Amino acid sequence: MNAPSKLYEGKAKILYATDDPGILLTYFKDDATAFNAQKRGNIAGKGAINCAISTHLFQLLEAHGIATHWIDSPAPTEMRVKAVKILPIEVVVRNIAAGSLCQQTGIALGTVLAEPLVDLYYKNDSLGDPLLTLQRLLLMQLATAEQAEQLRLKALAINQILSAFFQSCGITLVDFKLEFGLDAQQQILLADEISPDTCRLWNQAERDPARRVMDKDRFRQDLGNVEAGYQQVLERVLAQPIQLGG
Ligand code: TMP
Repeated sequence: MNAPSKLYEGKAKILYATDDPGILLTYFKDDATAFNAQKRGNIAGKGAINCAISTHLFQLLEAHGIATHWIDSPAPTEMRVKAVKILPIEVVVRNIAAGSLCQQTGIALGTVLAEPLVDLYYKNDSLGDPLLTLQRLLLMQLATAEQAEQLRLKALAINQILSAFFQSCGITLVDFKLEFGLDAQQQILLADEISPDTCRLWNQAERDPARRVMDKDRFRQDLGNVEAGYQQVLERVLAQPIQLGG
């Protein structure tokens, strides 16, 4: 077998080609960035932790009928995935107000939203991933109207499954970011990763607004014990078997 050729290096992962053009290999890095890479660091063991958490959550979602790019995870920091064309749209689902929603609307941190909010962002680092309107998304031809509606419905379905799962782990799923891709048949598959890098996760056993944080906000806000937060999410996630209808 030839040495794998690097297709793309992102901030947290590297994508390699494999001998099969329909399959790519994702390598999860320990590197961490925030605020569009203005803040950079390294979280020891993050690559393996995020790969293991994403693996478990993709399997959970597949068991609930959500099509994902995940094939298998042959090594602790490696995931084999179906080759897809990533849509340049970051789909964020919010259950509780935090982060940019609070900064941009004045809604208080921790406010439980009456219903989940789906926010779409243009995935473009040089523009700072701006918030999209549906009209702008269509103007820029980032997706069709039908695809945009499918993204919204899939994101809400994923939110229901993940919220219930994290609840069983004693963790509140505050918000999270998803990316989707199109396969050769133009089917929409959930792609990228689902991990403490891409979710806000609050420990239900803690009331304190700094102590409860188990995700990348520990790094973004210099809260300390970043690895410990990620490790605790991993342990709780792996302790919950994947159950249908759970
Ligand atoms: P936000 O509050 O900064 O808009 O973030 C919403 C969610 O999306 C949060 O769980 C973190 C995640 N996220 C990413 O995964 N990547 C990003 O580049 C950003 C800005 C947020």
